Amino acid sequence: MKIPHPIPYQGSKRNIAKFILPFFPREINTLIEPFAGSAAISIAAACHGKAPRFHLNDINKPLMALWQEIISDPKGVVASYERLWKEQQGKEREFYDYVRDAFNRTQRPDYLLYLLARCVKASVRYNARGEFNQSPDNRRLGRHPEQMADDIFAVSNLFRGRVTITSKDYMQVLESATMKDLVYLDPPYQGVCNNGDPRYYSGVDFKEFVLSLDYLNQQKIPFVLSYDGRTGPKTFGTELPSELELHQFEIEAGRSTQSTLLGKADITYESIYLSKALVECLDVSLKDLANKHLARQVSLFEIVG
Ligand SMILES: C[S@@+](CC[C@H](N)C(=O)[O-])C[C@H]1O[C@@H](n2cnc3c(N)ncnc32)[C@H](O)[C@@H]1O
Repeated sequence: MKIPHPIPYQGSKRNIAKFILPFFPREINTLIEPFAGSAAISIAAACHGKAPRFHLNDINKPLMALWQEIISDPKGVVASYERLWKEQQGKEREFYDYVRDAFNRTQRPDYLLYLLARCVKASVRYNARGEFNQSPDNRRLGRHPEQMADDIFAVSNLFRGRVTITSKDYMQVLESATMKDLVYLDPPYQGVCNNGDPRYYSGVDFKEFVLSLDYLNQQKIPFVLSYDGRTGPKTFGTELPSELELHQFEIEAGRSTQSTLLGKADITYESIYLSKALVECLDVSLKDLANKHLARQVSLFEIVG
């Protein structure tokens, strides 16, 4: 099954979605993604009928405005992307700069889609004034409008009438979750999120994050968390406290680009954690699930575009 993925986004979980979905309970009311980004897990879950309703949230407002438009006015987004893509031809660099300036003035979601399709590694970068300042990838023109159109219409059809879109801090979103929902959390990676790192709009404070996970545990709200990982023996991020009683799994996510460049064979592992409430409502043993679904290798570092 071809899973659509209209928004190119660094950090997208599209390549490991198939390893995460088997951990979903059989029935849930709403899949809630407080750090949705390009919403790879919700898209995959919708394609596989794993949830009837979705809540996508991300603190990046223009990104969520783009999601809103993709769902409510796919024709408009497709037409605008095609116009920008064609207009750039022959003057790619100046046109990119022009759209980037225009985006910084207007925050228009269609401009953001064009910038994500054209910029280096599909990664959002902001300067101290909060302006998008990522450079273009001069080796490519961005995804062809026809392929973009296919994915935009497919995702719009998947989500229309069953999705809520918000742009708030993740903690506010957790307040609306219930025991019947599933929360999928994919916060910015530790080590890259604090100290004004431009990779994301906002960082996530580790202590506050742990308190939020504790809140979900207290309320018995099931959740899956993607949180850091390791390349070879090198682990990223502070360990989560054992009091949270999480079950950790490692997904073999392929060779890191860094290792490949250095000619090393280090494999990157992506960690996922299941909450106690989630494990209690699964009807298969974790060992069986792990054996069945986690042994294969995927490439995490494929750049979308
Ligand atoms: C690793 S990315 C999520 C990628 C996503 N799983 C996907 O498949 O595209 C983390 C996201 O968290 C968002 N974010 C950062 N701080 C946040 C906060 N305090 N509340 C909500 N979202 C936040 C960022 O804008 C970024 O899109």
